[in-house]
Amino acid sequence: MSSFPSLRMRRGRVSPWMRDLLAEHRLHPSDFIWPLFVCEGSDCEEPIGSLPGVSRWSIDKLPGRVRLAAELGIPCVALFPNTPNDLRTDDAKEALNKDNLICRAIKAIKDAVPDVGVLTDVALDPYTSHGHDGLIDIAGNVINDDTVNVLADQALVQAEAGADIVAPSDMMDGRVAAIRAALEGAGHQNVAIMAYAAKYASAFYGPFREAVGSQGRLKGDKRGYQMNPANIEEALREVELDLAEGADFVMVKPGLPYLDVVARVKDAFGVPTFVYQVSGEYAMIEAAAAAGAGDRDALILETLLAFKRAGATGVLTYHALDAARLIAG
Ligand code: PBG
Repeated sequence: MSSFPSLRMRRGRVSPWMRDLLAEHRLHPSDFIWPLFVCEGSDCEEPIGSLPGVSRWSIDKLPGRVRLAAELGIPCVALFPNTPNDLRTDDAKEALNKDNLICRAIKAIKDAVPDVGVLTDVALDPYTSHGHDGLIDIAGNVINDDTVNVLADQALVQAEAGADIVAPSDMMDGRVAAIRAALEGAGHQNVAIMAYAAKYASAFYGPFREAVGSQGRLKGDKRGYQMNPANIEEALREVELDLAEGADFVMVKPGLPYLDVVARVKDAFGVPTFVYQVSGEYAMIEAAAAAGAGDRDALILETLLAFKRAGATGVLTYHALDAARLIAG
């Protein structure tokens, strides 16, 4: 192998066109899924304090948001409801209401912008009075199998409303198999499952919980079902199980602190592997930029590119619109 001075690595960095030519990875608007928060009401935009630049939108405003995404080449949006407080119950029954906020939001988007994919979250936390992702027993523990039954029904309700991808984010055991069976049984063969396969019990979800109104309700934490941040072999087992149960795509969440997990999952399984750059990561970048600690545009693009380098197929990011605009130049 040749070495200096016959080999000079800097020759490949000498000009913008050369750097472009040699880029191993690049970002494209089709890499992004844009999460949107939905609220009741009309003509309503509610800014979220801990997520500067992100708002909840009433359903009438959603098609406009999604059209913006479509114009920029973003293929898919993810929807999260802020369920009115009086509809949050211990049994989360609003999750199964065919006319709930999320179902109406799906229909409004599918009517107005049918060519954009709609991904919905399968988990009970926006619907429970206690803020957990599942049903709890008297001691406050989330009950796995009863929860799985509700999740399968929830996924079906979302599919019936027009969701293209259902994404279980609850971390119950066996939920992917139950959801797949429910979808097949009802003729929804083409509704895909993106499993939050390796979802960690993370401190980076705080702003999201404000956005969906589950903050402050949560008794205890989610460590009894979400993964221990110390573990990576366990993440591979989770992915293997979800794939065996019928997951079409898998996800790792959060993003940047778990890039090693993304890389291992992609190498080990070679399946479409998505990353969720979560609310706390977004907030961190915004705070750094606001504090003058870095250039906002550069921070956004560098972090998103890191996901591609690690092997991600796509990224759920609150920066999707900004990033797509930056890429377009
Ligand atoms: C709920 C869910 C969470 C997120 C997505 N789905 C929060 C949680 O598990 O508490 C977090 C997303 C984010 O922080 O942006 N099942």
